[in-house]
Amino acid sequence: MAKNELLYEGKAKSIYGTENPDELVAVFRDDITAFNGEKKDCFSGKGILNVGVSAFFFSMLEENGIKTHFIRMGDERSMVVSKLEMIPLEFVGRNRAAGSLVKKFPFEEGQVLDPPLIITDYKNDERGDPPICDDIIYALGILTPEELGQVREMTLKINEILFEFFDKLGLLLVDFKIEFGRLDGEIVLGDEISMDSMRLWDKETGESFDKDVYRFGKGDVMSAYGRVVEKIEEWKRQNVR
Ligand SMILES: Nc1ncnc2c1ncn2[C@@H]1O[C@H](COP(=O)(O)OP(=O)(O)OP(=O)(O)O)[C@@H](O)[C@H]1O
Ligand SMILES: [Mg+2]
Repeated sequence: MAKNELLYEGKAKSIYGTENPDELVAVFRDDITAFNGEKKDCFSGKGILNVGVSAFFFSMLEENGIKTHFIRMGDERSMVVSKLEMIPLEFVGRNRAAGSLVKKFPFEEGQVLDPPLIITDYKNDERGDPPICDDIIYALGILTPEELGQVREMTLKINEILFEFFDKLGLLLVDFKIEFGRLDGEIVLGDEISMDSMRLWDKETGESFDKDVYRFGKGDVMSAYGRVVEKIEEWKRQNVR
């Protein structure tokens, strides 16, 4: 699918129009940022790893009845997706306390959160993606109470599917961030599911295999991301249908 004009350049992806007005191409770049863009780098090959992992999870979720924007892979660093009217919220699913949750509230790092927490942030870089509560979501007309209930339920189901899968790989899904959008009046999962948008810890050692490796200079990001891809590839080889 030929890419047309660049519609949006985010911090890690570029979104292009195509000759089909209902489809976009999302190019996963090698750029990596942390702390709301304060720390920035570029790691050759990162985009390829993240687009592959995202495509893998979108397909897995579709098989489990979750509608997503994923249509097919484009070239090695891009995917063709349905054009969504994005909902300006980030849904964060948390199975263990880590990151900003521990900074803001008196949780212990790694504390089990059972039932898992679903937290919503208002997606707006200039305002620093502030936490948002249900009443503000309704007052801004972002979602109706019924829609919010539906998206929370989808997020919980996605969490269950991803948690169970990573468990089989020996990894703990600590938390993840997802975004949704509207497609012909229906709410579907958009954006990405990658090592940039999840926290993954080794179940035994607690070692990080996600963007925290970059955020806190814990080691080589590309080998951490590569290890997740290797584990997924290993699982695929053992589960050929
Ligand atoms: N199917 C889709 N249709 C339309 N827009 C989409 C779709 N999927 C994702 N997007 C949007 O495309 C953009 C992708 O950009 P990217 O993730 O690089 O940066 P960002 O979201 O602006 O910043 P960050 O992810 O660092 O907070 C986001 O604004 C996202 O909401
Ligand atoms: Mg983003």
